[in-house]
This record gives sequence, C-alpha cells and structure tokens, in this order.
Amino acid sequence: MRIYYLTFPLFLLAFLSSCKTVENEHQPSLKTSLKGKFLMGVAVNDAQTSEQDTAGLRLIKQHFNAVAAENCMKSEVIHPEENRYDFTRSDRFVAFGEKYKMAITGHTLIWHSQLSPWFCVDKEGKNVSREVLIERMKNHIHTVVGRYKGRIQGWDVVNEAFEDDGSYRKTKFYEILGEDYIPLAFQFAHEADPNAELYYNDYSMAHKGRRDAVVRMVTQLKAKGIRIDAVGMQGHMQMDFPVAKEFEKSLLAFANTGVQVMITEIDMTILPTSKQNIGADVGTNFEYKKEMNPYPDALPDSVAQAWNTRMEEFFNLFLKHSDKISRVTVWGVTDADSWRNDWPIRGRKDYPLLFDRNHQPKPIVEAILKSVNKNN
Ligand code: G3I
Repeated sequence: MRIYYLTFPLFLLAFLSSCKTVENEHQPSLKTSLKGKFLMGVAVNDAQTSEQDTAGLRLIKQHFNAVAAENCMKSEVIHPEENRYDFTRSDRFVAFGEKYKMAITGHTLIWHSQLSPWFCVDKEGKNVSREVLIERMKNHIHTVVGRYKGRIQGWDVVNEAFEDDGSYRKTKFYEILGEDYIPLAFQFAHEADPNAELYYNDYSMAHKGRRDAVVRMVTQLKAKGIRIDAVGMQGHMQMDFPVAKEFEKSLLAFANTGVQVMITEIDMTILPTSKQNIGADVGTNFEYKKEMNPYPDALPDSVAQAWNTRMEEFFNLFLKHSDKISRVTVWGVTDADSWRNDWPIRGRKDYPLLFDRNHQPKPIVEAILKSVNKNN
C-alpha cells in the first residue's frame, strides 16, 4: 500500500507529460503542414535566440523549421572594426538554430546598408583602392563564413544590388569595384564553405527592371561557373504593391534561370505611406504625423480582413509554385517584433506579420493550413 502511495504520483506525472507531448504533436503547425512543399522560416532577434522571449520561442518551435538572422550577422554588428570581429550574437543565433534543428540562413555578407563604417574607406574617409576593397571583402567573407562552415545551410551573399529600373545601386562596392563585386563575393563565400548554398536577395522584385537585372546577373554568374543556388525575393509588401501577377512573373523568370526561389522577409504593412512602391530601403524616412498612424489601438475588422485576404493570395501563389520554392520566410514572429513599426516613420503601430501582439495566429494561419490540406 505504501509503495502504491509513493508510485502513484509518479505514474500521474508520467501520464500528464505524455498527454502534453501528444497534444503538442496535434497542434496545428505551419512547418508540419508545409512539409514536402517548402521550408517555413522566420527571422529571429536577440530576445528570441537568448530564449528570453518565451512566448515567441513557443511559436518558433511550433511553426517554423528555418531561421534567418534578422540583424546579428550584418557587418556593423559582426565586424565593427577592421581588426575586430564580434561573434557574441551570431554564435548564439547559430547555436539556437542547431538546438531546434532549423535550417539556418546567414544574413547577410555584402550589403551597402548597416555596413561597418570602415569597410570601404581609409582613415581620411576616402574610398580605398580596388585591391584593398577586394582584400577586405575576402577577409570578411572568409572569416564569417569560415567560422560557421558546415553549420549554416546557406548565405545571403549579396543583398539589394539593384534599383527598381534595373540599374546597379550606386553603393561604395559598386563605385570602387563596378559590377565585379558580385561575382567576387560569391566566389569568396564558396571558397570559405564549398557546401553552403549561396543566395542573392533583394526587394521590390516584381518590378520588371529588377526582374531583368537579376535574371541577367544570375545568368552571368552561371556562365562564369560561379555557384548561386537561389534568388531570395524579399516580401516586404504594401496593400497596393506588388501586384501578384507581376510577382509571379519574376518568380517564374528566376526559376527559369535554373536556381531555386526563396520568398524571404515577408511582411505586409497596413499603414499608409506617402509614396507608392516604397520598397524596403532603411534609409527612407518620413516625419511622424498622427494621421499616418491610423490604428494605434487595434485594427478594424474590415481592414484586418482585407489584410488576411491579400496575404492569402500570396501564400496561394507560393503553394501553386512550391516546386520552384525551397523556403518561405516571414520577417519576424509577431507584429510587436516587426521593423515596420518604425519604418519609414518611427513610432507607429503596424500589423504586418502572421501572429498578433498576443501571440495569437491571425486567420491567415488557418487559411494556409486549409489550402495545404485542400491541395494534398
Ligand atoms: O539595437 C539598437 C538599440 O540598442 C537602440 O536603442 C535602437 C534605437 O534606434 O536601435 C537598435 O538597433 C536597431 C536594430 O534594427 C535592432 O532593432 C536599428 O536602429 C535599426 O536600424 C535596425 O533595423 C533593422 C534594419 O534591417 C536595418 O539593419 C531591422 O531590425 C531589420 O528588420 C531590417 O531588415 C532588413 C534586412 O536585413 C534586409 N532587407 C530589408 C529589411 C528591412 O529593412
């Protein structure tokens, strides 16, 4: 009898914890439903990789099987001075991805924005020579990619190299090296980790100019025998841009070059902007005005519905072309995490992601799960 009293609580505990496992397995999950279609990814921040954001972590574990570094691998963070790297945050990010068995994307190696101030200039602030910049790019890429060799599935090697009209963005890299900086970056990344996948990643890809320019660039890289595995189409959207048909044209054009397509950085702002097709250039900023922040408390139902309907249109497009798409990544877990709350106007309240500020799924999540089941 005494043994019974001692062991019963243990049995009860074991029973309850097994119920919990079963319950978790049966919880609706984007990553589980989308298995065989594409990876379902999310950009993570420091609060999540350090596991302080426990509610965010629960959603990440439940719904996602791929992670991208939202900020911790950008050159100003990881390589703040020429002779000093800081891997504190990136090491934590990679360990986090491994712990939860996620496909890990390194973001991003060569980007004009959030670029360490020393990278392209000398002590007087003048552009360095071609030779010096090539050497700096090589050191940066070899060191960063080399550190995580074999642990990162793929890298956003070059980010945002074109303008809407397809001309090269006039970055310091372009000013000093011309278009050569792109093949050089891919070559250095491949040298540092020959098994890592390599991506080109850009926004506003529904513009014909960017579409044609990216197709040309991928074709040229391939002709030179340089590895490129995928084109990342950033999904920073507005309610009136992009037009799904134009986005689809770009998706097909990229796939036709023989690379995979990744839909990266998805978010869709509901807030007004003073400019159509605003893109995602962090440098674009406008002054705060009350009328530009129309939903400081909550989103009216009709507006939320319009948002869900439009987001569903895009997810249906991704499902339609899932044979060409290897990963779909949202740019943050909940609305509260999104950079959109502060861009292009600081201090607004936006509603751009799949989960709300209470960590609840929006109707779009249910809609995606239903669409997948219907098509299976
Ligand atoms: O960490 C500092 C904090 O200490 C400081 O108090 C605060 C005050 O401004 O700034 C914090 O840094 C901010 C950082 O995000 C972390 O929240 C930077 O100001 C802010 O500029 C930075 O914005 C990031 C932006 O890239 C620029 O790097 C966004 O979080 C990030 O979502 C966004 O992501 C980019 C992709 O990398 C490339 N494609 C476009 C996309 C959106 O801009």
